[in-house]
Amino acid sequence: MDAKLRSAEWYEGTDRNAYIHRAWMRRGVPDSAFQGRPQIAIANTASELVPCNAHLDEIAQSVKHGVYEAGGIPLNLPVTAPGETLVKPTAMLWRNMTAMNAEEMLRANPVDGVVLLGGCDKTIPALLMAAASVDLPAVVVPGGPMLTGHFRGEALGCGTDVWRLSEEVRAGTLSEPDFLKSESATIRSKGHCNTMGTASTMALVAEALGMTVPGLAGTPAPDARLLETAHGTGRLAVELIAADRRPSTFLTKASFHNAIVALAAIGGSTNAVVHLLAIAGRLGIDLTVDDFDRIGADVPLLVNLRPAGKYLMDDLHRAGGFLAVLREVRDLLDPDALTVTGAPLVSYLDEARIWDEDVIAPRGEPLQKAAGIAVLRGSLAPGGALVKPSAASPHLLQHRGRALVFDSIEDFRDRIDDPDLDVDADTVLVLRGCGPKGYPGMPEVSNLPLPKKLLEQGVRDMVRICDGRMSGTAYGTVVLHVTPEAAAGGPLALVRTGDTIVLDVAARRLDIDVPAAELAARAPSATTLDGYAKPARGWERLYIDHVTQADTGADLDFLQGSSGSEVHRESH
Ligand code: FES
Ligand code: MG
Repeated sequence: MDAKLRSAEWYEGTDRNAYIHRAWMRRGVPDSAFQGRPQIAIANTASELVPCNAHLDEIAQSVKHGVYEAGGIPLNLPVTAPGETLVKPTAMLWRNMTAMNAEEMLRANPVDGVVLLGGCDKTIPALLMAAASVDLPAVVVPGGPMLTGHFRGEALGCGTDVWRLSEEVRAGTLSEPDFLKSESATIRSKGHCNTMGTASTMALVAEALGMTVPGLAGTPAPDARLLETAHGTGRLAVELIAADRRPSTFLTKASFHNAIVALAAIGGSTNAVVHLLAIAGRLGIDLTVDDFDRIGADVPLLVNLRPAGKYLMDDLHRAGGFLAVLREVRDLLDPDALTVTGAPLVSYLDEARIWDEDVIAPRGEPLQKAAGIAVLRGSLAPGGALVKPSAASPHLLQHRGRALVFDSIEDFRDRIDDPDLDVDADTVLVLRGCGPKGYPGMPEVSNLPLPKKLLEQGVRDMVRICDGRMSGTAYGTVVLHVTPEAAAGGPLALVRTGDTIVLDVAARRLDIDVPAAELAARAPSATTLDGYAKPARGWERLYIDHVTQADTGADLDFLQGSSGSEVHRESH
């Protein structure tokens, strides 16, 4: 290796500090380990409390073999991460902590490059944010989706089918013991959720950005080819050091353009919007929420996966995988966007093929003609709000209705099934206090369940408006990520039950039909103010004091941007 390694600042020389740095790291390794060999961290979000990532240690072994083979030294670096299903109040509260954890430990240590191992929803976004800010050569290995589980002859999709089966129990068509038997069938193997939820979305989006070896994302967790490519990625990580290929050298606005096209074509999660904005914010790339509408709104939906469609991630891989999807929208991709290999993303598409057109629709016969996200603005959302028209009911896309306001998710749960609740199919359900500051952590609650009495009347969708997020597995006419949130003083805090709300998706408007002067004279309701989180200390305190709004990625304000990898002072 010709160029001087970053790690040489720790290991090179005969002085006392170099002695200390080497001595504690010797562990039986030879002198040569410290002489010009790239030190490759494996930023590993494995944890037994993040079940979707519990197998990442096995993948790390394959990465290690590849790193050694190429002449580097692999070093496992555990990164604390939140598991989507377990942590309360919401995993999103800790995405930024995971990002900060990875960034700081990469910078503080004698590391020349990094392989990022993630899977469960928040882990790949957090690792990408860290990699962008420390700007060391970096490449992602997604942990892969789990295999399709079956129950009573039917495929089970994570999330989506849990809701369906529990509804069957309520309806009396499935016994509770049988429901419980499906529990171990749902999670058939290692891996992350196999629907097109946030984990699958962010693995594919990482590939669209150029941050994985092309063709890797979406490979099921137990598939031998995942380990093979993990091995190859270990080799690549060593090569990145010589090429000095850091995120800032190839992640550009063009990469984000491709990610937005991909997000629409796969029917990906709305959560990707907030994650991509946060990653771009670390790189200083001028990406705005409006770019998602401008670039993605007219992209066709090609992937027939639950919750929108029929299949699961295993099927997508069998049907040709993500590259086959990208090949269909090749003309919409930016040909100049490079990947971590040094070659453009589009150069990997020639050999991709669709093997099952029921899973991946050809461009000429899309599942939907325009699948992207629409960005609304207006007197109720001056900073923007999102809606996925393809997941909404066409008759509600232009709607005028009476607001029914809830100050918290608990308030909503207490009242929604009250038979005396003054609500009909035209009512607009408004939930506030669920933004980054208000909850805190911007939970996935925006897809509010409909009032029981309306469900009984056959109502299946209503306009819902919220400053929170929704699960990648959710559906309906849901206007979410309303910015600014109520807790940050957004007009959402001023809405009263009975006000008229006007939604016009074609015009990209979300308004409250109350004169501006009257609205400005209102004070937020006392309930609203009392309902907001007021943590006295700890991470939650730091978080609510510094979290930005959804339109800038709900990052912490002082984490936006990059500090690079330099450390100026010695520890001894
Ligand atoms: Fe981890 Fe779904 S719970 S990916
Ligand atoms: Mg989720």
